[in-house]
Amino acid sequence: MTGIKLIGTGMYIPETVATNEDFTKIVDTSDEWITKRTGIKERHPSNGEPTWYMGVQAAKQAMEDAGVTPDEIDMVISTSVTGDYYTPSTANIMQGKLGIHKAFSIDINCACAGFVYGFDMAQRYIAMDDDVKTVLIISSENITKLVDYEDRSTCVLFGDGAGAAVVTAGPNRCYTYLECEAQDANKIYAQNVRPGNAFTTQEGREKYLDLFPQGREHYMHMDGRDVYKFATRAMPEGLHKACEKAGIKVEDLALIIPHQANYRIIETAAKNLGLSMDHFYLNIDRYGNISSACIPVCLNELKRAGRLKEGDKIALVGFGAGLVYGATVFTI
Ligand code: ACO
Repeated sequence: MTGIKLIGTGMYIPETVATNEDFTKIVDTSDEWITKRTGIKERHPSNGEPTWYMGVQAAKQAMEDAGVTPDEIDMVISTSVTGDYYTPSTANIMQGKLGIHKAFSIDINCACAGFVYGFDMAQRYIAMDDDVKTVLIISSENITKLVDYEDRSTCVLFGDGAGAAVVTAGPNRCYTYLECEAQDANKIYAQNVRPGNAFTTQEGREKYLDLFPQGREHYMHMDGRDVYKFATRAMPEGLHKACEKAGIKVEDLALIIPHQANYRIIETAAKNLGLSMDHFYLNIDRYGNISSACIPVCLNELKRAGRLKEGDKIALVGFGAGLVYGATVFTI
């Protein structure tokens, strides 16, 4: 199978800063609680920037970094769970705004693990379809529009932003393990517009109960403790399985880029893996959880800092609503 090469990265983070102190004015919380329980100090909520806009800014940077023109992009994958429109897709909108004319584009919804799924999908298209040589993956999230600012256990966790990557065919494969524990889909969710039209009767409205009745309107509902337990188990499991496929051990990884949901989740996962925290890249203190954008934003920061060294084996590991998780191991 043809492999995959990361040739460009980019990111966009809104200018607005929301500190832990700012949250003490909204809900009953403290800087000490948030810092100790999550590792988060600041996040950057969108000040009206739509998802497509943030994604386009990140994508432009990634294309410039890769040295590719819009005409050289064959496929655009968007991993956003917070698109601005039901239709067209977020990927379609961003493709148009980027002036990419000779490509096709698709959305995938794999929650916070979206970039891992998108990366794996890009390799498969590059390997199987002669028309696909260069893929642009964009992970842009306006997750704060789903945040319930009356719920102190979730509102402090999330920020907005976008990360993007350009990948092309390379000599080394990525090895990916993906799974969804769908029986636990009720652990994190945000409801869409309910069914209803000019012909819907009152009986019809009442007949079909909400699948997940605990949520408030369209806001994100999360069972934090259960997700915490899931994440600390799923991250090591995913990493072990991806490394096994790659024929290496987790100790052979130069760097692990985890989904940035909670510092303590990453710390516990590191302990379960028998690795020191030096193996993990963290920026959660500055951005909080930006869903699928977390991993490509980390990749971009590492690339700009010169920390992605040719030949290094890197792992990306994500988890989120679904409950999905996934890890991929690739060579820089
Ligand atoms: N400030 C102060 N106190 C708080 C806050 C807050 N912001 N939030 C919760 N508390 C309180 C709770 O009410 C509770 O009080 P009680 O003991 O009087 O009932 C106490 O703190 C402990 O609550 P826990 O839920 O046990 O706190 P925990 O240490 O588990 O931390 C957290 C909560 C941060 C949500 C943690 O469970 C977590 O990180 N879970 C995973 C979340 C996650 O990864 N989400 C991302 C999923 S990815 C996606 O797709 C969105």
